[in-house]
Amino acid sequence: MKDSEMLSFIQGLPKTELHLHIEGTFEPELMFKIAKRNNLEIKYADVEELKRAYSFNNLQEFLDIYYAGASVLIEEQDFYDLTWAYLTKVHEENVKHVEIFFDPQTHTDRNVSFEYVLNGIYKALEDGQKQLGISFKLIMSFLRHLDEASAFKTLEQALPYKDKIIAVGLDSSELGNPPSKFKNVFKKALDEGFLTVAHAGEEGPSEYIREALDLLKVGRIDHGNRCLDDIDLVKRLAKEQMPLTLCPLSNLELKVIKDLKEYPLLKMMEHNLLVTINSDDPAYFGGYMNENFWGITKALNLSKSQIAELAKNGFKASWLSPNEKQTYLKEIDLYLLNN
Ligand code: ADE
Ligand code: ZN
Repeated sequence: MKDSEMLSFIQGLPKTELHLHIEGTFEPELMFKIAKRNNLEIKYADVEELKRAYSFNNLQEFLDIYYAGASVLIEEQDFYDLTWAYLTKVHEENVKHVEIFFDPQTHTDRNVSFEYVLNGIYKALEDGQKQLGISFKLIMSFLRHLDEASAFKTLEQALPYKDKIIAVGLDSSELGNPPSKFKNVFKKALDEGFLTVAHAGEEGPSEYIREALDLLKVGRIDHGNRCLDDIDLVKRLAKEQMPLTLCPLSNLELKVIKDLKEYPLLKMMEHNLLVTINSDDPAYFGGYMNENFWGITKALNLSKSQIAELAKNGFKASWLSPNEKQTYLKEIDLYLLNN
């Protein structure tokens, strides 16, 4: 089949994004624009020089640049513009529903108010729903390199906004910061009615995935690649139909895998794991949803029905209502039939 036919199949497929850090959508052009209006310096001369710095050997090297980039976000309008730029981009890619992360501590630690961050992001999401038809849920992530007391403080700040924040998550430097470090704050979040998710098994061991399940009671595992080291865990994840939000281009750029051709997606699907395709930090890793779908399609020679299966998994793994899910699943079946 011609590349162009597959690309247009991916383009037209209704998609959902379940693993996306809004700070990771900060494109260099917008970063320079916002830095200028906030009178802040970026340590790179221009967009080209900044882009040349986007070469990472591991998660930490990426995080250092990602936090530096996010540090020019100050005003509510900055968070609005960041989120709006993301939504218009994925609208072009036929993404219908997003469940995105924001990292409040990245901003509140710089004395930016929690309300500015939340309101800026949320207003853009509401406008995206109204003007672009993209439905959404918002997930507040705790930074795992900070201590649990800081996560507790952040949770306190979120309590008045339970109507806007559906879940808490866990991200940042994984190795040495196991889910168990956050078991108390996740317990409190669950008691307060939040859903929970966590990054686990990206660089960290499969044991971290077990901890996320057993101690943090997560409803999805973000990444989860390392589950394959533990066949009993794989069986459990398959039995529970616990979603794994995979991010192929991120894994490639952060050297979790050497080559997309080695991506264990088909093995995971053979094990009946509920795997979904996502973009993580698209401004840094070379692509949004279509580029992630295209990357693995080309590397693994996926068929249209396998691609459609992955898109369906995204809706199944979402927090849409059962009726909404059914509507999208039927739409994808029909799309596959006609394309
Ligand atoms: N924060 C942003 N992207 C991340 C990733 N891939 N893993 C952990 N924390 C992150
Ligand atoms: Zn992530």
